[in-house]
Amino acid sequence: MARILITSAIPYINGIKHLGNLVGSQLPADLFARFMRARGHEVMFICATDEHGTPAELAAAKAGKPVEDYCAEMHQVQKDLAAGFRLSFDHFGRSSSQRNHRLTQHFAGKLAQNGLIEEVLEKQVFSIDDNRFLPDRYITGTCPNCGNTSARGDQCEECTKQLDPTDLINPRSSISGSTNLEVRETKHLFLRQRSLRDKLEAWIDSKTDWPILTTSIAKKWLNDGDGLQDRGITRDLYWGIPVKKGDEPWPGMEGKVFYVWFDAPIEYIAGTAEWADANGQPDAAWERWWRTDKGAADVTYYQFMGKDNVPFHTLSFPATILGSGEPWKLVDYLKSFNYLNYDGGQFSTSQGRGVFMDQALSILPADYWRWWLLSHAPESSDSEFTWENFQGSVNKDLADVLGNLVSRVTKFATSKFGTTIPAGGTFGPQETALIADLGARIREYEALMEQMEVRKAAAELRAIWVIGNEYLQSAAPWSVVKTDPEQAQAQIRLALNLIRVYAILSQPFIPDASATMMQAMGSTDWSWPTDVPEAMRALSAGATFSVPENLFRKITDEERADWQSRFSGIRT
Ligand code: 2FM
Ligand code: ZN
Repeated sequence: MARILITSAIPYINGIKHLGNLVGSQLPADLFARFMRARGHEVMFICATDEHGTPAELAAAKAGKPVEDYCAEMHQVQKDLAAGFRLSFDHFGRSSSQRNHRLTQHFAGKLAQNGLIEEVLEKQVFSIDDNRFLPDRYITGTCPNCGNTSARGDQCEECTKQLDPTDLINPRSSISGSTNLEVRETKHLFLRQRSLRDKLEAWIDSKTDWPILTTSIAKKWLNDGDGLQDRGITRDLYWGIPVKKGDEPWPGMEGKVFYVWFDAPIEYIAGTAEWADANGQPDAAWERWWRTDKGAADVTYYQFMGKDNVPFHTLSFPATILGSGEPWKLVDYLKSFNYLNYDGGQFSTSQGRGVFMDQALSILPADYWRWWLLSHAPESSDSEFTWENFQGSVNKDLADVLGNLVSRVTKFATSKFGTTIPAGGTFGPQETALIADLGARIREYEALMEQMEVRKAAAELRAIWVIGNEYLQSAAPWSVVKTDPEQAQAQIRLALNLIRVYAILSQPFIPDASATMMQAMGSTDWSWPTDVPEAMRALSAGATFSVPENLFRKITDEERADWQSRFSGIRT
């Protein structure tokens, strides 16, 4: 039994996530966690809300709430939606937790002790009416290059020129519109990442099994001229983790907080500590996942995230860990994803474009979405959600192939033999061939799941469902029963066993349907079908089963058209 640590990129607190966010990190991480648990491994699966930064402050202000209250509420909303999608986190934490405060301050203190922090005096725009420093992108003005009157202080989106806020003509605060701005001096901490470059490069080079998408992004940032810059890790904001050196105050840094991207990945560790606290466990219980000197040397650590998060996880966060000089666990395998597009454009949180997690669950149960999203995961390239494609997959894969098999078998069996597993006959050549084919396919499915080849694993699972249908088609127990009822009983016994095995195999993708199938087969034995011939005899003659509720319904053309128009606009 292995020990597997899994983290999903932690979603920003400001607003409900769309399906593109979901498929880029939390959902495939859940697939992997469920699979690894099903194989009998010890799994720790952590996610959280990413609560700091200006966007959180502004969203709270827009909602008219203190930022603490806003974050507490939105955390609960996201936690409930995660449960609705059956995301099986061991803990869904908060980056604003006291655990994360203490750990973040601890890491900063160690980095300072190791000479990796530089204090830099900077000039920054202060808004007198807002009574705060403004981050670059919260300053608007006229672009000196193209004349666009709503260029941002970091970049003009019209002509793409990178800007400094002081380049803007007629600058104003994007928060209040005030032009009452001045440049003030402020001190910030920089992490001297450049001095860790060689260590980081050696570490990245040692990861020869990483997906190309991950390695290519990591190397690009490592080797690009401006790749590995020293990085500002503090901000002049109210909401965040106060800058301290471990438990000690940091002279000159009063009133400042750590930058959200400094504390967010530390929450993976803090979230595990929160899990221990929530379960009345001692520190040793979480440290054995994270400290290689306290038991984590035999842990394999997997991270899941969208491609935009890769630089932070291959360079910045490892720089924090390596720079601490302490024996913290580094990631072993980093699975990254491209983007999911929406019906001819992009999903967009800021524009409210696409289908959001709450909306999705309001029209169909989680399994429908889980199946489509995972079987179309944007792995080798970006992929696209269209309503036609969604309707097609649900109706074919889930309703026709899997759902229909379960309902045909259980209804036929009940009508001919009652609700106990029939005892007659023995497995013949056709049954033996199916079991052999199934065995080979299950081994392939396991290999793909272990390699986190999400789409290919989905395709293999669908192929496993298909061979069950083909068997039934050619065995035709509904005809055989007329001439050889004993043989028909053996065929049905096999098919009922197949339903139980399908429940186990499908559980990482469609957990609710799997639970329904297992329950209908009257079993609670979820053990993985390592010995397939034995697993196909697990339901013994005489045990009772039932006809489950329809597993999946078809999506009608009217529904598809209705949803397509309902979700074509901008969410307000
Ligand atoms: O891109 C995002 O949604 C970020 N909130 C991810 C942070 S992952 C990590 F560093 F914790
Ligand atoms: Zn411009």
